Amino acid sequence: MTIEDAIQSRRAIKAYDPDFQLSREEKDELLRLALHAPSAFNLQHVRLVEISDPALRAQIREVGWNQAQMTEASMLVVVCAKLDSWEADARRVWEGAPEQVQDYMAGAIDNYYRGKPQVQRDETMRSCGLLAQTLMLAARGKGLDSCPMDGFDFDAVAQLINLPANHVIGLMVAVGKRTLEPKPRVGKLPFDELVLRDRF
Ligand SMILES: Cc1cc2nc3c(=O)[nH]c(=O)nc-3n(C[C@H](O)[C@H](O)[C@H](O)COP(=O)(O)O)c2cc1C
Repeated sequence: MTIEDAIQSRRAIKAYDPDFQLSREEKDELLRLALHAPSAFNLQHVRLVEISDPALRAQIREVGWNQAQMTEASMLVVVCAKLDSWEADARRVWEGAPEQVQDYMAGAIDNYYRGKPQVQRDETMRSCGLLAQTLMLAARGKGLDSCPMDGFDFDAVAQLINLPANHVIGLMVAVGKRTLEPKPRVGKLPFDELVLRDRF
């Protein structure tokens, strides 16, 4: 499948074949591909919680608007991110670069995030979004379907997955094989409303 085909044929699929199972290796391959998503300063904020325990899936569905994707899709990933990556991992993620670059990046990262909780949080959300889309396109490229989701009780899911206090949940992504075709796309806003030239 070409990248164009993958982008155009990706839909938010709600109905999955519960008998279709990706192997652990297949899931990990998708996750590895998704981890190629970019992150600001290479901080790699994301932490991916792949939920394979059926009982936990059922609990998540209970606090997730009873969305069938949460239990029926072969793979369910809670896309989380570490809020203090900028402080905890700034050095690690530039290991291997020339010393001068490491020092420069450490300073730049500190300057960008320190004392700016909104920036710290915004960055995690950017990283989660990019990761999720990369995962969904990787899945589509293999003929699979996916659904991004934020229709759930974030605090309840955080409790269920033991989310550490310095982490946030961005969204969830379900991946599997569709059993129903999605309805045709509707309500697409006009290109010229969404795309501006030079300025608003
Ligand atoms: C951040 C985000 C959260 C979403 N949450 C849900 C959700 O909880 N359940 C669901 O069925 N679809 C969810 N969607 C899917 C959207 O409804 C869907 O992407 C949109 O209607 C456009 O349809 P398409 O992706 O098939 O083109 C979500 C999408 C995004 C980007």
